[in-house]
Amino acid sequence: MTDKTQSIHGQWSSRFAFILAATGSAVGLGNIWKFPYIAGENGGGAFVMVYLLCVAALGVPIMIAEIMLGRRGRKSPINTMQDLATEAGADPRWQYLGWMGMVAGFLILAYYSVIAGWAMAYIVKAFFGSFMNSSAEEIQRLFENLMASPVQQIFWHTAFMLITMQLVMRGVQGGLEKAVRFLIPTLFVILIFLVGYAMTSGGYQQAMTFLFDPDFSKIDADAVLTAMGHAFFTLSLGMGAIMVYGSYLPGHVSIAKTTFYIAGADTIVALLAGIAIFPLVFANNLETGAGPGLIFQTLPLAFGHMGGGWLFGLLFFVLLFFAALSSSISLIEPAVAWLVENKNIQRHQACVWSGTACWALGVGVVFSFNIWSDLKLFDKNLFQLLDYLTANLMLPLGGMAIAIFAGWMMKTADVEQELEIPSQGFQVWQFLIKYLAPVAVFLVFLHVLGVL
Ligand code: PHE
Ligand code: NA
Repeated sequence: MTDKTQSIHGQWSSRFAFILAATGSAVGLGNIWKFPYIAGENGGGAFVMVYLLCVAALGVPIMIAEIMLGRRGRKSPINTMQDLATEAGADPRWQYLGWMGMVAGFLILAYYSVIAGWAMAYIVKAFFGSFMNSSAEEIQRLFENLMASPVQQIFWHTAFMLITMQLVMRGVQGGLEKAVRFLIPTLFVILIFLVGYAMTSGGYQQAMTFLFDPDFSKIDADAVLTAMGHAFFTLSLGMGAIMVYGSYLPGHVSIAKTTFYIAGADTIVALLAGIAIFPLVFANNLETGAGPGLIFQTLPLAFGHMGGGWLFGLLFFVLLFFAALSSSISLIEPAVAWLVENKNIQRHQACVWSGTACWALGVGVVFSFNIWSDLKLFDKNLFQLLDYLTANLMLPLGGMAIAIFAGWMMKTADVEQELEIPSQGFQVWQFLIKYLAPVAVFLVFLHVLGVL
């Protein structure tokens, strides 16, 4: 155990507080906004199956490893990796793993904030009853109008960034612990309610077949990479977010058990979101491959037609906003912690610098939905490029490196002492981390490159 040290940035008040914060980081736009639309774009069932497999076989063991590294290092991911590499007698260049993660978090937050801004815009629309008795076409137009307006999107993106940085400034035990405590249970309840509504919408059977009856002819190498990348993205893995949260974790807390709670809650929220949304897609003859607008073009339709829909719509988008917020603060925390440690500046200054830079890139992302939509590199606009670069490349690469470091570089005795898993479980974990995770990620990469 590493009780002897505590992070200079603070510590969680309890194990439960850590579970809340880490679940807050994991459960976010990735579950409710991204999972349904990428499942839709990639043909459903087979994609969902690969994603679930990756969560269980790669996500869970790597999350255990990443939290463990954080708690042992007790610093920002860059400095943690440097210290642990020194401790293990490994190459100091392992710190670049921390660097890549910090950059990835920064790139993700730039577009994450824009999408969270859409959710905020929809809070207002819900409040003013804009969904009431609307047709699918009207709901679609509502979304298209938002996409066409840089001014509106920049306004909400700015608001979201300001709130995020305000929260990060307050540090580890700010108001967010409390917010998440209320958020996750309420989100469950609303999603279950929406699933109930979706069951009566007429598209339920079709949706269940779409989501859970795998047809492997529908997926190719790139879909497999997207599913694997999403497993990392949705669990906040491979970029230091969970590592830095782990660095604030008190000793003597079972990391393995904690990981099961976090990964379990995250997976359930994603599946519920899918089961709530696809029946509406089929019942209204919408497109499964509608892309990033999918939830904004389906759920308002349900809210506009069901009893109590005004309240549920409002509550839903408020919760989506909070879910995004509890994730966004973890995206920038590695950078803020590093700036404080190495640049000798105050936490609030670190927030201003990193937040401003991230905001500027986000403005570019807003333009990629309208005036720059034709500006493409590798056939992808800025939003698509950032998404692909981070979720499909940087996070799996980071996750693979974390697995290799924990499995091959650290002394087994140190790892065993840090994890305190009963021996059989430890051997299973060690096998997954040493062999399965690195090999699986590597093979998927080769497959995408067409080598395999
Ligand atoms: N896990 C978050 C989500 O699903 C996104 C995220 C990725 C957060 C990486 C932190 C780090 O929305
Ligand atoms: Na998630």
